[in-house]
Amino acid sequence: MRFDVLTLFPESIDAFLNESIIGRAREKGIITVNTINIRDFSLDKHKKVDDYPYGGGSGMVMTPQPIYDAWEHVVKQCGRKPRTIYMSPQGTLLTQETARRLKNEEHLILLCGHYEGIDERIIEEIVDEEISIGDYVLTGGELAAMVLIDCVSRLVDGVLSSEDAYSNESHYNGLLEFPQYTRPPEFRGRKVPEILLSGHHANIEKWRFLQMLERTKAKRPDLYEKYDRENHEKVLEAYGLLPKRKRRKKAGSENVEKGTAGISDVTPES
Ligand code: ADE
Repeated sequence: MRFDVLTLFPESIDAFLNESIIGRAREKGIITVNTINIRDFSLDKHKKVDDYPYGGGSGMVMTPQPIYDAWEHVVKQCGRKPRTIYMSPQGTLLTQETARRLKNEEHLILLCGHYEGIDERIIEEIVDEEISIGDYVLTGGELAAMVLIDCVSRLVDGVLSSEDAYSNESHYNGLLEFPQYTRPPEFRGRKVPEILLSGHHANIEKWRFLQMLERTKAKRPDLYEKYDRENHEKVLEAYGLLPKRKRRKKAGSENVEKGTAGISDVTPES
């Protein structure tokens, strides 16, 4: 997968993305990240990239010409128009679902703004989508672009060692991840839950799933509310956690009872 980042600060992006998992994915050629310095495309003799806002007001606005020319340079180079995303606090919120959708794109162009924003006509002319990483305002879009590249890239085949690496993690199925422990078995008087040392795989799976439910309910009640209850029933069934009275009859049977087990039916206490 390829990302082209249009920015005034290419070094900040390069420094971060050369590290760790994403750095290795870049070395292996699974992920390509190019940074394009918008200033290099300015036709102004002083390489200016911003100007005062029409209508007055504080701050400066990024002018359209250097951004458009930088974008056109990428488009000409690759011979098509990749999906172009403007990192902006006005965009839709970046979620795990957004990341899953974007990982199917072969090539993305990410536009990072600065100052008071960019000339609106650039958004109309080249931007397909605006994405925000949260309801707060950053000094520029670079951090947001790095966040997006990181969370999309790790879903691309071959970047993590296996599907296992993210199939249980937070947000994968709408729930937060279960707690993780490693050695030593006791740290400052705090013991690793006994069940994890038991070697009983099925019980461990069940315990972990119940922890996911409990944690999501406690830490992110908003996610817990949204958690897909239909999917929940399937998961419960797979874990053998569906209460007996609600267990589904075999498919094809006349009176297939609709699964109605709510999350509250399966609490860690039950
Ligand atoms: N640029 C400035 N603030 C931002 C935000 N919250 N998300 C994405 N891009 C931004």
